[in-house]
Amino acid sequence: EAAPVILPSLLLCDFGNLEREVERLLAAGVQALHLDVMDGIFVPNMTYGMPIVAAFRKLTDLPLDVHLMIEKPEQYIRQFQQAGADVITIHAEAVDDVASTLRDIHSLGCGAGVAINPDTPVDAIVDALPEADLALMMSVNAGFGGQAFNPIALDKIREVRRLNSDVLIEIDGGVNLDTIGRCTEAGADLLVVGSAIFGKPDYITAVRDLNSAAVA
Ligand code: DX5
Ligand code: ZN
Repeated sequence: EAAPVILPSLLLCDFGNLEREVERLLAAGVQALHLDVMDGIFVPNMTYGMPIVAAFRKLTDLPLDVHLMIEKPEQYIRQFQQAGADVITIHAEAVDDVASTLRDIHSLGCGAGVAINPDTPVDAIVDALPEADLALMMSVNAGFGGQAFNPIALDKIREVRRLNSDVLIEIDGGVNLDTIGRCTEAGADLLVVGSAIFGKPDYITAVRDLNSAAVA
């Protein structure tokens, strides 16, 4: 069993100085970046698109885990791949055919992930799981950083693990010092963290403390 990996969510970061943000995260030892793309339609908030993904690609060789919270993601996956995404995660709620969208992502040479919001049952992705490299169990409704952790995601992590022993399981939303231990205990491999890193003055300490709490 590999050690759990903390992925900073670049949502509440300083967009006026991405180079410095990446430097500070590298100094904290992070192994990949989680990029939150929102379109104002699938979720009631907007963030950024391909140009910012491309900007991060120029700044670092770290894997870019791109979380698409957008309608019709299949229309944009090629552009996100070209912008430098390594993994592209789509929401099951946003597509008609999850498995075929995951296959399209694979055909571009990217890792393929499927996400579900707290109210969406694991049943919605059972048929697609064999096509997925990554299954993202949202522990908040997609759309905003800084929301409270919904423990329904923990049961869904266990359910996904029972169904598929290979898929990487990611959790996203409200992961902090108080909740991260329960996430890894449930079987999460990848832990997305926004405010519990970017709301802290020192990323090195924040990531170190999260890592300790994750394995405790
Ligand atoms: C929410 C995003 C998350 C978010 C996490 O829709 O997908 O990645 O930024 O932020 P925190 O950790 O503050 O909940
Ligand atoms: Zn996310």
